[in-house]
Amino acid sequence: MSEVVETKAVADAFLKQFGIEPEVTAYSPGRVNLLGEHTDYNGGYVLPMALRDLGVSIALAKGDEPGVIKAYSDTFDEVETRSIEDVRQGRWTDYLLGCLKAVVYEEVEEFGLRVALATTLPMGAGLSSSAALEVVSLKGALELFGRKLNPVDVAILAQSIENNFIGMPCGIMDQFASSVGDPGVAMFLNTRSLDYELVATPEDYAFVIIASGVSHQHTENGYATRVAECLAACEALGVEKISDLGVADLDRVNQIAEPLNRRARHVIMDNQRVVEGVDALRKNDMVRFGQLMHDSHGSQRDDYEITVEKTDAMVEACLSRGALGARQTGGGWGGSVVALVEKSALEAFNKSILGDFDGIEILAVT
Ligand code: GLA
Repeated sequence: MSEVVETKAVADAFLKQFGIEPEVTAYSPGRVNLLGEHTDYNGGYVLPMALRDLGVSIALAKGDEPGVIKAYSDTFDEVETRSIEDVRQGRWTDYLLGCLKAVVYEEVEEFGLRVALATTLPMGAGLSSSAALEVVSLKGALELFGRKLNPVDVAILAQSIENNFIGMPCGIMDQFASSVGDPGVAMFLNTRSLDYELVATPEDYAFVIIASGVSHQHTENGYATRVAECLAACEALGVEKISDLGVADLDRVNQIAEPLNRRARHVIMDNQRVVEGVDALRKNDMVRFGQLMHDSHGSQRDDYEITVEKTDAMVEACLSRGALGARQTGGGWGGSVVALVEKSALEAFNKSILGDFDGIEILAVT
C-alpha cells in the first residue's frame, strides 16, 4: 500500500523537477534492528525487521546529456549535477553515484540520467537511510536499463559500495534487510553464511520506534573505531572473527586488554541474545524477549560504549512506562530507541513516553 503511495509521490516530484514522466520507479524500506548490534561485521547474528512505512523511493529516466546525472532529493530540495566519472565528494549524491558506477556506468555515459528521490526515512535516526538509498538506487538503475540482479546480490553489492566508495566499514545487515526483508517481519540472519529465516512476531505486541533527536554521525569515526577494536580483539584472541567464540570462551575473553575484552564480550553476548530471542519469539515468550532487549541495551552502554545519555534515559523510561523491553537500535550514539509494548497498553505508553522527553518522536509502530 504505502509503496504505491510513495512511488506515486516520487513520480510527481520527478515530473515537477524535470517536466517529463519517469520511466521507472522503485521503493526500498529502512529497517529497525530488534537484537544483535555491531555483530554483523563480526560474522554474527542479527534480527532486523524491514519497515512498512519508512523507506526511500526513486524515479528515473534517461537524461539529456551523455555522462551527466541530474538528481533531485526531497530531503535537500535541490538538484545536484554529477558526472558518472566523478569520485566521492562528500555529498549526498555520492551514494547514488557509487551505485550507478557499479551497475550502469556505460549506460549513463551514453544517455545521461535524471533521478528523483523521496524519503519517509529520517536521516541519522539509526533506521538505515543510507542502505535504503543504495538498495533503491541499484534496483531503479538496473530496472531502467533492463538488467537483473537477485535481492541477495543487490545487498552484497550495496554493502561493498558503502565500504569502498563511501568509506564506511559497515556490515551487511542494513542492505540485506532492505533488499531481502519482508516489511513488518523479523529476519534472523547469519551474516557470515547469509542464511536467513523470517520469524513472525506475536500479533498482540508492537515495536514502537522512537527517535531520540540525537543524531549519529558514523562516518565521523566512532563506528570505524569499533570495527578496528574488534579486529584487534580477534588478533589478541587468535580468531578470524569474534563470532568464532561463544559464551564458553568468556573467561579467556575477559583477560585480554581493556577495552577490547568488553568489545568482544558485547559481540559474543549479543550473538547469544539473538539466538535466545528467536527462540523466545517462537515460544511467544515476549517477557523473555523484552528482557533480552534490555540486556542488549546495557551491553551496548557498558561494554560497547555506543549509547548516549538520552537513549539510556529513554530506555529506562520506556520500562517504567510499561514496555517489556527497550534498547537503542542501529549504529549507535543516538538514533532511535525501539520498545516492545503490549498492544492493549500502546496508547497510554505512547502518550506518557512523549511527555517524558523533549525532542523525541514516535516514527513508527510495527
Ligand atoms: C550500522 C551498520 C550495520 C550494523 C549496525 C550496528 O547500521 O550499517 O552494518 O553494523 O550499524 O549493528
